[in-house]
Amino acid sequence: MLQDEIQKRRTFGIISHPDAGKTTLTEKLLLFGGAIQTAGAVKSNKITKSATSDFMEIEKQRGISVATSVMGFEYGGYKINILDTPGHKDFAEDTYRTLTAVDSVILVIDCVKGVEEQTRKLMEVCRMRNTPVIIFINKMDREGQDPYDLLDEVEKELNIHTRPLTWPIGIGSTFQGVYNLFEKKLLLFSNTKTKKAEDIISFNSIEDKELDLKIGEKAANKLREDAELIEGVYEPFDEDLYREGYLAPVFFGSAVNNFGVQELLDTFIRVAPSPKPRISDLREVNPTEKNFTGFIFKIHANLDPNHRDRIAFCRIVSGTFERNTFYYHTRLDKKLRFSSPNMFMANEKSVVDQAFPGDVVGLYDTGNFKIGDTLTEGEHIQYQGIPSFSPEIFKELINKDPFKAKQLEKGIRQLTDEGVAQLFMQEQGNVKIIGTVGELQFEVIQFRLLQEYGASCSFHSVAYSKACWITSDDKVALANFIRFKARNITFDKEDRPVFMADTLRNLKAVQDLYPAISFHFTSEFKTDQAKIAEGAWKS
Ligand code: G4P
Repeated sequence: MLQDEIQKRRTFGIISHPDAGKTTLTEKLLLFGGAIQTAGAVKSNKITKSATSDFMEIEKQRGISVATSVMGFEYGGYKINILDTPGHKDFAEDTYRTLTAVDSVILVIDCVKGVEEQTRKLMEVCRMRNTPVIIFINKMDREGQDPYDLLDEVEKELNIHTRPLTWPIGIGSTFQGVYNLFEKKLLLFSNTKTKKAEDIISFNSIEDKELDLKIGEKAANKLREDAELIEGVYEPFDEDLYREGYLAPVFFGSAVNNFGVQELLDTFIRVAPSPKPRISDLREVNPTEKNFTGFIFKIHANLDPNHRDRIAFCRIVSGTFERNTFYYHTRLDKKLRFSSPNMFMANEKSVVDQAFPGDVVGLYDTGNFKIGDTLTEGEHIQYQGIPSFSPEIFKELINKDPFKAKQLEKGIRQLTDEGVAQLFMQEQGNVKIIGTVGELQFEVIQFRLLQEYGASCSFHSVAYSKACWITSDDKVALANFIRFKARNITFDKEDRPVFMADTLRNLKAVQDLYPAISFHFTSEFKTDQAKIAEGAWKS
């Protein structure tokens, strides 16, 4: 039954600032799910931190990560899909897009460092869609911050209410374990140097006198005090508030020591939402609808230059996806059939005959897809909510080989369809500006244009610092603005006008000077898209 398949699916992402322990936690969850047998298996997926310029190495590692882009496994009767998000900040936009395909996230925070830059950015993206968040405060075996202070910091900086479900006993050298406030159970962390999961002992009540013997009277009393205080200060955990993205349950643990991970997983499968309805341009689509629909949120290029095919990752939103069935590609107005769709179970790729809402299938693609494309059984809808984010680094693309202009044009269009970077055009497309969130992408583009399209290019820095999509209800005002600011106006691939701000201060001044113009930091905004599509901004 479709309904049963939906109920048992949990599709989520693990996010963190680099180094907080995302990879380690992912690996431990996979170990619990029996998807991998040994620790270290997920490491290959990680982009080496030092590799700021060795992009080949990164590409190699990204290549391996095709299989780990989606990690599916069964646990406790549930089908769990972890959607991998790259840790490297230069691939942040990849992460943002992947977050559009999850139903919830687990956010990992390092207890020593607290809330960090990427933590903030990633949470902003989650807040845009009210994605439910569970917080895992990691590295409790290290001398971290006081847990009350950490929760305060999370609430203030991430603008979300928290509710601890476990509570730590000590921290760093005095860390002795966690008390499960939810199940009223105590889990002790062994004090030996090699802390292992087998050393965990369970208690049934916090009042148990044996607790004093195990952790010492002082720590036992402190825990009783803390538990009382937390139960007094916090409302009981409200699952609905969590599912609305308003309240984040918090767990404490140490991923590398496999500590607190099972509590996290057991609570996660119980409270995390099953696949949710999704908004399209015409209507909301319910996962239980009979007809299949889905959207592409990620495209992975084949690194072998002899095979230019790519894998497009499709998140299933509704109905049942069937192999070898014609589906309707709404942007191209074309029917496509997939003879070997892939699914990723237990870290292995295999061809699947059927997939259900919440699942991700990898579809072989020869250039039909771009990010955000929608597949249906014939209905003409387009899923929303996969915006492009305003890039921060801009360079002009220079063609180094006049005989290869066509290849360059084709290559840059395809690479930007894949979401490697964004393309902005001036002077009817003669000037091409590439916008990215990281320097690495320029190396990626240069290398891939040469390898895959035989086109050599270089980049010329341009001094823009932000790109904003512009709209206005006043069509004359918009047309005038575009004319006055011609030097700073570009058009994106959908021919939408974009204002390129020289500096943030300059942007602010322009915003003040032109109140009739709206400036948007993502490409998807709640204005009359149709007007823009019709080219109403053109005079
Ligand atoms: P990331 O994916 O978020 O970037 O982080 P990752 O899991 O790679 O973890 C970053 C570092 O933190 C790793 O150490 C990892 O072993 C360590 N770590 C993860 N969880 C814990 C924890 O609970 N306690 C402590 N003390 N450390 C933890 P590394 O030295 O960078 O790598 P490795 O040599 O250990 O693999």
